Amino acid sequence: PGSPPGPPEDVKVEHISSTTSQLSWRPGPDNNSPIQIFTIQTRTPFSVGWQAVATVPEILNGQTYNATVVGLSPWVEYEFRVVAGNNIGIGEPSKPSELLRTKASVPNVAPGNINGGGGSRSELVITWEAIPEELQNGEGFGYIVMFRPVGTTAWMKERVALVESSKFIYRNESIMPLSPFEVKVGVYNNEGEGSLSTVTIVYSGEDEPQLAPRGTSVQSFSASEMEVSWNAIAWNRNTGRVLGYEVLYWTDNSKESMIGKIRVSGNVTTKNITGLRANTIYFASVRAYNTAGTGPSSLPVNVTTKK
Ligand SMILES: *[C@@H]1O[C@H](CO)[C@@H](O)[C@H](O)[C@H]1NC(C)=O
Ligand SMILES: *[C@@H]1O[C@H](CO)[C@@H](O)[C@H](O)[C@H]1NC(C)=O
Ligand SMILES: *[C@@H]1O[C@H](CO)[C@@H](O)[C@H](O)[C@H]1NC(C)=O
Ligand SMILES: *[C@@H]1O[C@H](CO)[C@@H](O)[C@H](O)[C@H]1NC(C)=O
Ligand SMILES: *[C@@H]1O[C@H](CO)[C@@H](O)[C@H](O)[C@H]1NC(C)=O
Repeated sequence: PGSPPGPPEDVKVEHISSTTSQLSWRPGPDNNSPIQIFTIQTRTPFSVGWQAVATVPEILNGQTYNATVVGLSPWVEYEFRVVAGNNIGIGEPSKPSELLRTKASVPNVAPGNINGGGGSRSELVITWEAIPEELQNGEGFGYIVMFRPVGTTAWMKERVALVESSKFIYRNESIMPLSPFEVKVGVYNNEGEGSLSTVTIVYSGEDEPQLAPRGTSVQSFSASEMEVSWNAIAWNRNTGRVLGYEVLYWTDNSKESMIGKIRVSGNVTTKNITGLRANTIYFASVRAYNTAGTGPSSLPVNVTTKK
């Protein structure tokens, strides 16, 4: 009858490039049923267990057995092992080859999710998704950040050398609040500069709103609820953008006892506040907010909830 082949022997890496590895091995015992196929498996510090990467038919009368594994990642440590199969089944794997690193190459994966915005006035904050170690392709890895005000032609270019970085802040007193910039982010290592992301529009930082809402009023229709209203702020770049409003409310005459803060986003000018105590005097004021923070508060108004 026979049994599956014994483990192949002497698995060696004959040659390694940035993306390929040429292996050689010798077959183990065929256990009375001719070997029909070899499977090459590989493992890296980033993979979970062994994965098959190539199958090689048995070569009749072959003295040397070899195969080239393609599609490897540059600058990653690999080990390989070989498994033989015959009519009866698949045998035990060989001992692994020694751990070897593929050659470095220029990084070819551009960062994704280019984003940013916020920050303070005169700042352009640019963020991206960091490239994992197995895609850095070599030593001396870093990011290239390119940006220019929309409508201009010359790119400004900065290198961010820290491998773990995913943020860059450009500061320049002459940046106007909320100015649009075209931004792209690329990668480099000691082998050279790699791919750049596509262009994304990112806005520079802004000031907090400068104006307090006017016309704040408050009414109570029930024992547990009050309705706070105010006039919308007619804002422009100089008075600071308004993204929404924040209602602050408290119970006695000092803000120390503030019990709540509720945000409403957009051009909303009234908010109901629930869960209040009956027959209690409540104070409320309203302020605008944007990505830089909150603006000045309106003068407090008050109401006594119903019995
Ligand atoms: C690979 O195997 C083929 C076929 O057996 C042989 O001709 C060739 O010399 C081998 N190459 C190496 C580098 O072992
Ligand atoms: C700040 O921006 C101005 C106008 O774009 C430019 O002329 C100047 O060189 C910039 N300064 C720095 C330090 O980047
Ligand atoms: C906000 O809404 C009011 C009407 O509710 C309108 O008069 C005003 O123009 C709006 N403001 C903005 C900035 O959209
Ligand atoms: C607040 O509550 C009053 C009374 O229940 C209701 O008439 C009003 O529409 C509510 N306002 C909002 C903004 O939900
Ligand atoms: C409540 O508001 C009224 C004006 O609507 C004001 O006269 C009164 O002093 C306020 N009460 C307190 C305790 O601040």
